[in-house]
Amino acid sequence: MKLTPHEIQELVVLDALCFEPPLNYSYRDLLAYTKFEGAILLREREGESLIAYCLGDAHEGTILTLDVHPEYRRRGLGRRLLSEMIEEMRKHKAPCVVSQIAIDNLPSLELHKNLGFKFVSILYDYYPDGTAAWEMELDLSSSNALQPDGTDSQ
Ligand SMILES: CC(C)(COP(=O)(O)OP(=O)(O)OC[C@H]1O[C@@H](n2cnc3c(N)ncnc32)[C@H](O)[C@@H]1OP(=O)(O)O)[C@@H](O)C(=O)NCCC(=O)NCCS
Repeated sequence: MKLTPHEIQELVVLDALCFEPPLNYSYRDLLAYTKFEGAILLREREGESLIAYCLGDAHEGTILTLDVHPEYRRRGLGRRLLSEMIEEMRKHKAPCVVSQIAIDNLPSLELHKNLGFKFVSILYDYYPDGTAAWEMELDLSSSNALQPDGTDSQ
């Protein structure tokens, strides 16, 4: 995926509003991630302003980040973007979708749980500041996999 420097910078600015240093991504990080062959970027704008995005890697079946501007939270944007990302991963034949989420990030843990993700393992010292993360996974291979709206596929 080829983004302009302005578009990368927008991602950096919103990520800094969503994560305290050292957990936020740098320009260099986001430039690299958006160049992954399996990179998928879903964006939500209000007017010209970027208010939310989800970046994933369909090859690895991973969510790289999900950012909703603090002023636009609890309006369903996070759920919508993550649901769309799951659908994109499904189309790309990813067997599962994996997210790493800080153990104290209740909003994100709840969101993932509501969309059918399961707790897989705890990753100690996962973040640069020593915070641990939960690895959560949504199985897309099983015919019993939950649909992104939380309903059963059968
Ligand atoms: C996590 C985040 C993406 C959620 O986005 P959002 O647009 O506010 O979420 P939604 O409005 O779509 O909420 C969907 C569900 O998430 C859960 N949720 C969201 N915010 C929550 C909160 N503050 N407390 C508890 N649960 C919450 C709820 O289950 C909610 O469903 P409900 O509204 O039916 O109760 C947003 O808080 C955010 O950007 N946080 C900072 C960055 C981050 O942590 N990203 C995820 C990294 S893995």
